[in-house]
Amino acid sequence: APPPPPPPPSEQPATAAAGAAEAGLISKVLIVMAMEAEAMPLVHNFKLVEAPADESTFHKGAPWLRYHGNYKGLHIDLVRPGKDTVYGVDSVGTLPAALLTYSSVQTLKPDLIVNAGTAGGFNAKGAKVGDVYLASDVAFHDRRIPIPVFDMYGVGARKTFGTPNILKELNLKAGKLSTGNSLDMSPKDEEMIRSNDATIKDMEGAAVAYIADMFSTPMIFVKAVTDIVDGEKPTAEEFLMNLITVTATLELAVVKVIDFISGKCLSDL
Ligand code: ADE
Repeated sequence: APPPPPPPPSEQPATAAAGAAEAGLISKVLIVMAMEAEAMPLVHNFKLVEAPADESTFHKGAPWLRYHGNYKGLHIDLVRPGKDTVYGVDSVGTLPAALLTYSSVQTLKPDLIVNAGTAGGFNAKGAKVGDVYLASDVAFHDRRIPIPVFDMYGVGARKTFGTPNILKELNLKAGKLSTGNSLDMSPKDEEMIRSNDATIKDMEGAAVAYIADMFSTPMIFVKAVTDIVDGEKPTAEEFLMNLITVTATLELAVVKVIDFISGKCLSDL
């Protein structure tokens, strides 16, 4: 039999990403990253372009930045919170991450959120500098409310979107992620991190998860270890010393994850 005629132009998907969506495949991926040094290698790798500030993605006044483009049939939006308007450094931490994720989810309506960045790792849980983790669970370690049920709300433990095939195929490590607004670790934080059974510690993950969950958007967390929290070296020193090399490792891992996602459904991950 002759092949069926192509659909009329009006019914043809305008882009590869739109075509993917029609086929039930993942089409729009939102990558949320906190630091410029972590984000820019990926922006270049995926050949994303910066959205002009006057585009209506974000409200006027927000220092947030968006880079976008098509990559292997996916539409990728990579967002970062930009520099603090007063102090001029990357706006790390849960507050900017939550606001940025909220605004991005509202306007961009992603099929999947990828929060990628660096993290501290626990030697006692097998973490080494340069390891890349896919977090199975996320929770907070600096929201202590010792009142029944509020205690659990404070910890805010959430399961991430299950990705057994990514884990298997890409040889990433799996572990629980604990989030707080400090780079260092107070004894109280340590207690909570232990109770969260965390292998890695960051400053954004659980906040991104809170928003993703609110709007029922699947979320995954790719975290590369820059420093060993229960090691000998002072955290800030070790973090800064390893940031550039570990960022390159993170970049490779995120590219592999995105390559894996391309052409797949959520249930294939
Ligand atoms: N990001 C990188 N290292 C970290 C640490 N030790 N704690 C929190 N966030 C981090």
